[in-house]
Amino acid sequence: MNIRPAHVEDLAGMQACNLQNLPENYTMKYYLYHALTWPSLSYVAEDAKGRVVGYILAKMDEDAEEGDEPHGHVTSISVLRSYRRLGIAKKLMVQSQESMAAIYKAAYVSLHVRKSNRAALGLYRDTLGFSVHDIEKKYYADGEDAYAMRLALK
Ligand SMILES: CC(C)(COP(=O)(O)OP(=O)(O)OC[C@H]1O[C@@H](n2cnc3c(N)ncnc32)[C@H](O)[C@@H]1OP(=O)(O)O)[C@@H](O)C(=O)NCCC(=O)NCCS
Repeated sequence: MNIRPAHVEDLAGMQACNLQNLPENYTMKYYLYHALTWPSLSYVAEDAKGRVVGYILAKMDEDAEEGDEPHGHVTSISVLRSYRRLGIAKKLMVQSQESMAAIYKAAYVSLHVRKSNRAALGLYRDTLGFSVHDIEKKYYADGEDAYAMRLALK
């Protein structure tokens, strides 16, 4: 297993992985926007044949108001089912967080997660130390609430 920064050639594999794992899907234009704007924040995990088996798509927040500290945001993360519980998502998160802090001086990282997503909550809260900053009612298209979570990077 190899974890490395995502390149433009990986985007189709990342999108395929996303489509298999999550109902929140994005246009190729949005993947490309991430890869070209923040090339050091998105990563892939590839198997021995170079197939993308996990990815993190991340960015710096663009809606920050004047005086706000810069912060990173995880747009999407997923790992193919047969590669789960191997520590891949944790490694992808840590790599991206380290780049957010080192390159963009991010004070914290934010993300949204479904209230019912036990695996992701375990990863964010128990393994990485995120806490719930807010609850966003009906954040998802199907009406489920989201936890808006944050982790300080300094
Ligand atoms: C959430 C997800 C990315 C985790 O990927 P993963 O590579 O299996 O996670 P890791 O192996 O790095 O797990 C790290 C820790 O997270 C927690 N965790 C991971 N999966 C879990 C599960 N199914 N139940 C409870 N805790 C879990 C555990 O604390 C785990 O540490 P441990 O294995 O030492 O107990 C993966 O389950 C996934 O792709 N799910 C579908 C997509 C998704 O929900 N993405 C998040 C959207 S917000």
